[in-house]
Amino acid sequence: MVRKMMIAGNWKMNGLSADGMVLAKEVAASVKAKKRICEFVVCPPFTILAVVKKALRGAKVALGAQDCHFDEKGAHTGDISPLMLTDVGCSYVILGHSERRADHGESDELICRKAEAAHKAGLKTIICIGETLAQREKGETIDVCSKQILGSVPVSATAADTVIAYEPVWAIGTGKTPTAQDVEDVHASVRKVLAKKLGKGQANKMRILYGGSVKPANAKELLSLPDVDGALVGGASLKAVDFMAIADNAGC
Ligand code: 13P
Repeated sequence: MVRKMMIAGNWKMNGLSADGMVLAKEVAASVKAKKRICEFVVCPPFTILAVVKKALRGAKVALGAQDCHFDEKGAHTGDISPLMLTDVGCSYVILGHSERRADHGESDELICRKAEAAHKAGLKTIICIGETLAQREKGETIDVCSKQILGSVPVSATAADTVIAYEPVWAIGTGKTPTAQDVEDVHASVRKVLAKKLGKGQANKMRILYGGSVKPANAKELLSLPDVDGALVGGASLKAVDFMAIADNAGC
């Protein structure tokens, strides 16, 4: 089964217009400079989506947002709808990132509802799952990830509109990563749960990214695992050289 590798950058709450534009232009230039076999996505904050879209013009780099509401429009002060994201040029949206689950109390049910709305609007989703350190230490990693997959991925999801990102919470921004074997074990078990939920055909085609302290130095090992189909990169996506070195080292 050939799944197209994806290298996605989650800029989180970083970037003003000027530096966001520079970063996007550098990524665009680097993607254009070489024949690339993977798909690139950058996910800046809402406020600079339009600026980044412009800076990416002509480069095969998709634009993604970091969250959306489940309604198309209406009385939801401060929220952004899926239609607003397609309107500004997004083709992807990250949903259920652990920082949103923790900071905003997002449940699997809410994430599922958002994903359905995003798909309806024509957006592709990157749905995040992952265990905390306490859960890992109690040996609950596979159970937690399975529950999150079952609860937050819509039954109607397909490999064409959904990407999963496994991000162990304790590996995010810490410089720590699970062993390659641990990553492969979780990804393989996630694929099994996806097969149960969506059927084997979709599960085999669906990309499962790894995220959490991905750097140029560990990209090759992590991204060459059989069930790892790319990376969702946080900190290292804020420097174009590092972001592109991750792609280069992963053979993309
Ligand atoms: P870091 O790469 O900074 O660990 O962040 C990972 C992440 O949360 C991407 O969504």
